[in-house]
Amino acid sequence: MTWRVCEEGFDSSRITSNGNKFMTGNGYMGYRGTMEEYTKNELVACNLPGVYDRVGNKWREPVNAPNGLFTSLAVEGKSIGVLQEKPVCHRQMLDIREGLHWRNTVWDTAYGRVTVEAERFASLSAYHMLCLKYTVRLEKSCEITIKTGIDGDVWDINGPHLEGFSCEQAGDVIRVQSITQELMVPIVVAEACKRSFIAEETIEKQDKGIFRIIKWCSEPDTAYTFYKYVSVYTGKDNVTDMVEAAGEAVLKTAEAGYIRASQDHAACWKTRWEDADVVIEGDEQDQLALRYSIYQLEIIAPFHAQDQSIPARGLSGQTYKGAIFWDTELFMLPFFLHTHPDAAKSLIRYRIKSLNGARRKAACYGYRGAFYAWESQENGDDACSDYNVTDVFTGRPVRTYFKDKQVHISAAIAYAIWEFYRYTGDMSILSEGGAEVILECARFYHSYAYFKEDKDRYEILDVIGPDEYHERVNNNAYTNRMVHHTLEAALQVLQLLKEGNPEVYAELLEKLDYSGEIANIARMKEKLYVIQPDEKTLVIEQFDGYHRLEDCSLAEVKNRLLDPREYWGGGHGVASDTRIIKQADVVLMLYLFRDTYHSEVLKANWTYYEPRTEHGSSLSPCIYALLSCETGNAEWAYPFFKKSASIDLTGESKQFAGTIYIGGTHPAANGGAWMSAILGFAGLCVRDGRVSVTPNLPQKWSRLAFKVNVRGEKYSIELTHDRQNIVKLG
Ligand code: BGC
Repeated sequence: MTWRVCEEGFDSSRITSNGNKFMTGNGYMGYRGTMEEYTKNELVACNLPGVYDRVGNKWREPVNAPNGLFTSLAVEGKSIGVLQEKPVCHRQMLDIREGLHWRNTVWDTAYGRVTVEAERFASLSAYHMLCLKYTVRLEKSCEITIKTGIDGDVWDINGPHLEGFSCEQAGDVIRVQSITQELMVPIVVAEACKRSFIAEETIEKQDKGIFRIIKWCSEPDTAYTFYKYVSVYTGKDNVTDMVEAAGEAVLKTAEAGYIRASQDHAACWKTRWEDADVVIEGDEQDQLALRYSIYQLEIIAPFHAQDQSIPARGLSGQTYKGAIFWDTELFMLPFFLHTHPDAAKSLIRYRIKSLNGARRKAACYGYRGAFYAWESQENGDDACSDYNVTDVFTGRPVRTYFKDKQVHISAAIAYAIWEFYRYTGDMSILSEGGAEVILECARFYHSYAYFKEDKDRYEILDVIGPDEYHERVNNNAYTNRMVHHTLEAALQVLQLLKEGNPEVYAELLEKLDYSGEIANIARMKEKLYVIQPDEKTLVIEQFDGYHRLEDCSLAEVKNRLLDPREYWGGGHGVASDTRIIKQADVVLMLYLFRDTYHSEVLKANWTYYEPRTEHGSSLSPCIYALLSCETGNAEWAYPFFKKSASIDLTGESKQFAGTIYIGGTHPAANGGAWMSAILGFAGLCVRDGRVSVTPNLPQKWSRLAFKVNVRGEKYSIELTHDRQNIVKLG
């Protein structure tokens, strides 16, 4: 069973993690893996990425739409649901091949056996649609009451975001209209419900919801099935009349029927898998975990939009403010670039679209150029607060510097644009705004850096590198090297445009008033301090003075915690004065620039930093996997691959930063799992449109097969321990 994720039995302590694990979605919306009878208390969410709202001075976060799939059951007036009555049998399943969520629950009640079976999906062929098939069967003849409709009383972390509710019935359609309270973005959810059995149906209106109350007397052992068609529209969609569009969508889908809707949806999934599937032979668990990681990436991919990106917790809710981090550029983009270049383009365009936000941020701190938001929302303004964690002991907000000092974010964006261009060979991304972004990032770094006369070099001081536990450090090896790359990319982009598109080049220089800047960038590139490996140990010091910190073990640092939710970094964190780091930092830099280092340097740093890494971020293990593959050590890489690939299956991840809930799905780890398998174990390398592999498969794997899209051509690649086959598909 390498296409199904299943869980048997009902365990209320797993409601939250299963909400993540059994997610469905289509990029336009994400629907959590909850039961139909759940409400906001069980964190039901139909999450709408890109529609953000702020209540008072609470954190801004994405909006959850009213839940059009809400359905509860009562038998002889008594509520039956997993929360009310312990089921004798309960199965929850995700079919990742066709993007279907399924549950089957059986209760032994005073009225005999009651069975509910429900299947649903967020349509990949019609992005506004959710469809549900719900069947109830009773052993005895009883009165059944189904309450089904649209529940607008939604789960919010920093809400309530929706107001101005209007709940109406119009013919066969019921709908809930509301608006977000900050920007007054209208949200419309419409529902049509079809059944072929006779029942009495009335409508119940509430302040924030509208429901059908469907009542009938069941025949013994007879299945009663109804279908719900739900559409979601927001004021951000390009439609003139949302109410009409929402109503038409549900009626049209209902008219065609559930089978048709699910066939269209399945056909889209088939196409997606044709491009993105990876076959692993030799270990079924690895196969499932990697497919599941790919599934998670597919359900959040912005295929429906031209310039939308992906939040760090996917579409699983409002944690991390639904914001876009560097996770997208460095950890998710490679998957999309190799499998769905159009979706990759949307991710890049989002950064182009939000360039002005980055300029505002730079200006706000007194710099020139583009300082991208650490936590970016729709306009590129930074949602990150100055106090991003709370102290578990006092409940007080702790001053963190992620927003002001994690300057490496701009370099990750420049890196991603450059990689997109290199991979696709598509110059248009540069003239469309990509060049402008890179140039503005380079300009930002020039204004951020210090030139040290005595050392005759530029230094980058007072930053946070990827390892967030050490704040406000000088010359972080990762940051400095990434900045160097940005400067290099800026100069190369200028050269490319000058030669290939002189008009755009001239326009850009004028628009950005950049002529004088070129010399600055070139000089800084020559004189920027890029931290070198120590001559004896080959270790690259993570930042100035890192080697003077206490060198104690990870276990020792853990031992010092007084509360398991304590934040390890910042002013008083248990890791702050030690060499224990949160996540891959130097090792990430070495992976990204692996071609420029001797493999002994890669090995020495992996060996030095790994025992000192907490892997407290889900971004970390995959990078250790990738770097060990680079040094030819697949067996070291393997456990890190496994950790990355299974994070959302096991639910084993940090749930709190201080007292702040940070749970949800982990798309960066999902992307990292794909990278570990394809760029790591398969050693895929695409240079100037040419495809090559340097396989180094884990012992257990007997075969690895996948496809890549290179400049519009598709290649099928198949590897075993002693064979490799790359075929260009016609
Ligand atoms: C990591 C960051 C990451 C963020 C969102 C943090 O825990 O340290 O590197 O961008 O989570 O995933």
